[in-house]
Amino acid sequence: MYINHLSLTNFRNYGRLELDFGPQATLLYGANAQGKTNLLEAMYYLATTRSQHAALDNQLLNWEADLAEDPLVVGRLVARVERREGERLLEMRLIREQQGDQISFRREALVDRRKVRLMDLLGNLRVVLFLPQDVQLVTGAPGDRRRYLDITLCQTDPVYCRTLSRYNKVLEQRNAALRSIVEEGKGRDVLPVFTEKLVDLGGTIFAKRASFVAAIAREAQRIHYEELTDGRETLRLHYLPRLYSASYTNGSDSTAAQMEWAEWLESASAEQAAERFRHALHEARETDLARGRTTLGPQRDDWMFMVNGRDLGSFGSRGQQRTAILALKMGEIEWMAAETEETPVLLLDEVVAELDERRRALLLGYIQQGTQAILTATDPSMFTDAFLEQAQTLEVQDGRVVEGKSALV
Ligand SMILES: Nc1ncnc2c1ncn2[C@@H]1O[C@H](COP(=O)(O)OP(=O)(O)OP(=O)(O)O)[C@@H](O)[C@H]1O
Ligand SMILES: [Mg+2]
Repeated sequence: MYINHLSLTNFRNYGRLELDFGPQATLLYGANAQGKTNLLEAMYYLATTRSQHAALDNQLLNWEADLAEDPLVVGRLVARVERREGERLLEMRLIREQQGDQISFRREALVDRRKVRLMDLLGNLRVVLFLPQDVQLVTGAPGDRRRYLDITLCQTDPVYCRTLSRYNKVLEQRNAALRSIVEEGKGRDVLPVFTEKLVDLGGTIFAKRASFVAAIAREAQRIHYEELTDGRETLRLHYLPRLYSASYTNGSDSTAAQMEWAEWLESASAEQAAERFRHALHEARETDLARGRTTLGPQRDDWMFMVNGRDLGSFGSRGQQRTAILALKMGEIEWMAAETEETPVLLLDEVVAELDERRRALLLGYIQQGTQAILTATDPSMFTDAFLEQAQTLEVQDGRVVEGKSALV
């Protein structure tokens, strides 16, 4: 699939933008702070309904429009997406409204000009975003890694996405019930109801995450071994589900136990996973009641990278971590293409500058295989002539996009 037109109104530093794209690679270049990353963010937002910065959605509205006296400010992101089954028009509206002293903010999603739930925007445009800071996936917090799983899976699996959203709601209700038992001694009667719902939804999430990590790991491992390290290093990705209570491991190292559960989950059904989750919640009952919250479940999951049998986050060099992320992203492309039988759109922010020559050539090679890729760079000269000849080059200047000529001379 590819984006053939993008239209932005009051989005970040774009007041108004109309931009055509071809099905091939597009290089957006320009000095710092001109709006290159903001353009990728707009496309990512239409694909995922989220910003890669995890910032507040109302920060996406253009400041200047937001400062104007107008009581109603509307930001619009519209993409025309060419897909195998035809064209689709995707739109997201960011609406800030002032009534008296009250300021409200809401979002609306539209597909082919018809309003849909935000969740139903997902899957219409699929992107793989690659940022220099993605290397933090290896070393950063579990929450970032869960976010990666959720956003990637949500783009291809609407059932996963709906289940996750319901799970989070039930989790809040169950936690509220636990708090109320702790603080007021009330709510014991409703707890089993929430536990049952949580178990059902959680089983699906565990099972889907396990098979997703296993599938993307297969792609990433192959690319890492064969193409990135000449068979010198083996990469493994391990899902670490929080499917057991603390008493299960008796306080010893839990990673090994989690890996075993991950392996079991790969061939388990959602019902079997739910059954196991029910059992674990039962074991954790006293802990949950003492702490007033649900201490295990998908909300506590993690996953990790291992290279040559060692935890990459703790022992890997920066270069090894970057290589693993490149393998993950290339694996993501392959996985998504296989899963949906359509290549996703690649959004690459400044990453080419960070790669050595060989890896750069490998990544750009992927792009030339009939995939739409939108890349940003401050300096187009790091791209080969062969690449620049077949790519569309555009210069970004202070919230405007102009036809790039200087890139070719
Ligand atoms: N809500 C907003 N309204 C107006 N401008 C904004 C808003 N949010 C961010 N900006 C501005 O947009 C500008 C461009 O940001 P962007 O991150 O896209 O730059 P860039 O071209 O990718 O630069 P770099 O090469 O440094 O990465 C920044 O100067 C930022 O201050
Ligand atoms: Mg940028």
